[in-house]
Amino acid sequence: MSSRKKPAPVKKKKSQQRLSVGSLLTIAQLSKDDVELILKTAAELKAAFTRGQADRSLQGRVLAGIFEKSSTRTRVSFETAMFQLGGVMLYLAGRDLQLGRGETIADTARVLSRYVGGIIIRTDAHRKVVEMAREASVPVINALTDYAHPCQVLADLLTMQERFGKLKGLRVAYVGDGNNVARSLIYGAAKTGIELALASPLGYEMDKDTVELSESVRVQNKGALYLTMDPQRAVAHADVVYTDVWVSMGQEKDQAQRVRALKKYQVNDKLMSYAAPHAVFMHCLPAHRGQEVTDEVIDGKQSIVFTQAENRLHTQKAILKLLMK
Ligand code: CP
Ligand code: NVA
Repeated sequence: MSSRKKPAPVKKKKSQQRLSVGSLLTIAQLSKDDVELILKTAAELKAAFTRGQADRSLQGRVLAGIFEKSSTRTRVSFETAMFQLGGVMLYLAGRDLQLGRGETIADTARVLSRYVGGIIIRTDAHRKVVEMAREASVPVINALTDYAHPCQVLADLLTMQERFGKLKGLRVAYVGDGNNVARSLIYGAAKTGIELALASPLGYEMDKDTVELSESVRVQNKGALYLTMDPQRAVAHADVVYTDVWVSMGQEKDQAQRVRALKKYQVNDKLMSYAAPHAVFMHCLPAHRGQEVTDEVIDGKQSIVFTQAENRLHTQKAILKLLMK
């Protein structure tokens, strides 16, 4: 009989089942495990949906959807997600609510919490979403503010993961305005170990706080952030080339100035030629064709913008299920 001891069983990390947060306001506040759990749940929900298997996790549940800004994807994907999960979303245009006539965010949050099981809100100032989450007794989800668009970037991460089978070490180039989407992308990249290059002109670059505050998470996950004003440098050898509009909602009065400043940051065939041959093009949409991207690129073979838009549905189902169930 052998006297050799049996090797100690390898302790498997218990996979996380719940999010560490009760609301989703930014990617910054999610842990790395939270991001992984959302992506895993989204991939499972997508696969089940594709097989024709219904998931009725939110049977009979109601979501309030407050929109103070326009939306196609976010509104329709959240409404569809709730319907397919067995619940319903109430579309509430900000101007039709008493909120639009001066009722406070706090009172609105307290009242809605007595009726519904969750609130999504699209608004301008990020502090409104923060206040809504503080005052509500149900989960609150940021459906876009001037500061962040976390639901978009979580769907983007799912899209990249599907395409490349990994996120760690992926080379992503964001070209254009250092806006809400770019900021969420910085945090999304930092949490997942993506190597992100960001090219923006002077005056439209990412704020220092975002760069500095995301640094420790980036280092921990072995990600990288490279900031430049040169779009060709950012795109060189990239796996993903990403852009967004030059004039975000609420910035219309600066339109002419922005278009002038960002002109050299258009994603066109020439710029795409600097990326890796297998590179994909991504855009959160809506696109302003002829400005930040040409028709050739967005309609070309490398574009995955509609899969990206589709993945909003699956990712948001995951977020809703994890927060509201
Ligand atoms: N990408 C995105 O949030 O699109 P909508 O503005 O149409 O919701
Ligand atoms: N940066 C854009 C994103 C739209 C989905 C905006 O805020 O208008």
